[in-house]
Amino acid sequence: MKIFGLKEEEILKLFERSEITFAVYGLGKMGLPLAAVIADKGGKVIGVDINKKVVESINRGICHVRGEPGLEEMVARHVKDGRMTATNDLVKAAEDSDVKIILVPTFLDSMNNPDLSIIKSVSRSISRGLKHGDFVITESTLPPRTTSDIILPTLLESGLSRGDFGLAHCPERTMSGRAIQDITGAYPKIVGGIDEKSTKTAAAIYLGINSKGVIKVSDATTAEAVKVFEGLYRDVNIALANELAVICHELGIDAVETFNTANTQPYSHLHMPGCGVGGHCIPVYPYFITRTVKSPTRLLSLSRQINDGMAGYTVSLVEKGLKEAGAGIANSNVLILGVAYRGDVEETRCSPAIPIIDILKRKGAKVFAYDPMLGDRVEDFGANPGSFEDVSDIDAIVITSDFKEFKTIDWGRLNLRHKVLVDGRQVVDPEDIRRTGFIFYGIGVK
Ligand SMILES: NC(=O)c1ccc[n+]([C@@H]2O[C@H](COP(=O)([O-])OP(=O)(O)OC[C@H]3O[C@@H](n4cnc5c(N)ncnc54)[C@H](O)[C@@H]3O)[C@@H](O)[C@H]2O)c1
Repeated sequence: MKIFGLKEEEILKLFERSEITFAVYGLGKMGLPLAAVIADKGGKVIGVDINKKVVESINRGICHVRGEPGLEEMVARHVKDGRMTATNDLVKAAEDSDVKIILVPTFLDSMNNPDLSIIKSVSRSISRGLKHGDFVITESTLPPRTTSDIILPTLLESGLSRGDFGLAHCPERTMSGRAIQDITGAYPKIVGGIDEKSTKTAAAIYLGINSKGVIKVSDATTAEAVKVFEGLYRDVNIALANELAVICHELGIDAVETFNTANTQPYSHLHMPGCGVGGHCIPVYPYFITRTVKSPTRLLSLSRQINDGMAGYTVSLVEKGLKEAGAGIANSNVLILGVAYRGDVEETRCSPAIPIIDILKRKGAKVFAYDPMLGDRVEDFGANPGSFEDVSDIDAIVITSDFKEFKTIDWGRLNLRHKVLVDGRQVVDPEDIRRTGFIFYGIGVK
């Protein structure tokens, strides 16, 4: 079904009647929920992934993405009713679909330059199966201008001309753990096409998916910038919170109390400080700008430096606590609680726990880690599997992510060799902890 340029009502009707076939490239934490939602709203979906195990599992109706409420059941249902299939044949999926959505990962290389190799190779495969009237959407987060300057020329390798097919950027604005809710209507979808017809077509498609509607922006580059800027805002604001938290520590005041009080005035939106910024979004996106534009990016670069520096600051608090306890960091045993970048998720990319483990080891500490979702896989990050059940040989504990489980620990029961606790995430109540005999330091709390 050729949908590029059809009227909004026609597209919505075709979507509902299962007459549009979508191919979703990348069946990961974001792609699989999107594919399942499209099937749920009436579309036929071909999920496309290079990972054969992922494809096999989906075709058996088994969901490999954990921690997304509702997803397992949706995948099982739509594989059974035939609305959802999966393949690793990227070109055939392009030939067999009307709308192609690219939701593969975008990384940084070892020098922190954006690595768009996966996006480019997927676009090349799509170009081999692209037909007149098809519509292509990029949802992966991209450095501004990627859709118009890299994806479009690659799609034109198909031999088709500009205007024969549509292309828009409609960024994924989702958080792990609430993907279905976010995709279906936590906030409006941003859509920006390479031309007006593309913007209108994309808007009609997402009206069929998102109950909060769409925001049409001027072009694909603006849509790319919207998504990247959301992340930059948070990185810069967290850097400000982190710098102010260190200042509050010097002033002997509680940063969280100070920030929350300042934020009662509607123009103040101070974020919360912590032991670092993790995940594959906020610490990554600043480089999508700093490494691709000619204009000065001093604030963005400095914010990254400040946030990356929080790992060293956290370790300095461990050293301070151990010193007060009459011990040194060399040859101490330190237990890290939480390797994931935030509580209750399995995501470890760019997690602050990783540099914290490295710095502690470089200073001669033996590091143990306990993460409720990783188990023995903490070894992949250079730590020995640990637990807060048996801590008699432990000299200091560092909380690096805010798992619910850590909020209910009975600290009075823990008999460490040296009772030092550093809280990088405002998980515990400082007064309660000190009452149980701990030497305590927390980031953002007095
Ligand atoms: N996870 C989040 O919270 C989140 C939030 C907003 C935006 N995003 C963006 O969404 C995009 C995807 O992220 P994700 O978290 O779903 O990634 P992910 O790592 O969970 O999944 C990516 C999937 O793509 C597949 N893949 C890799 N190369 C491929 C190729 N050449 N062809 C087909 N499939 C291929 C992988 O096998 C994997 O299944 C990224 O650009 C990310 O920036 C993610």
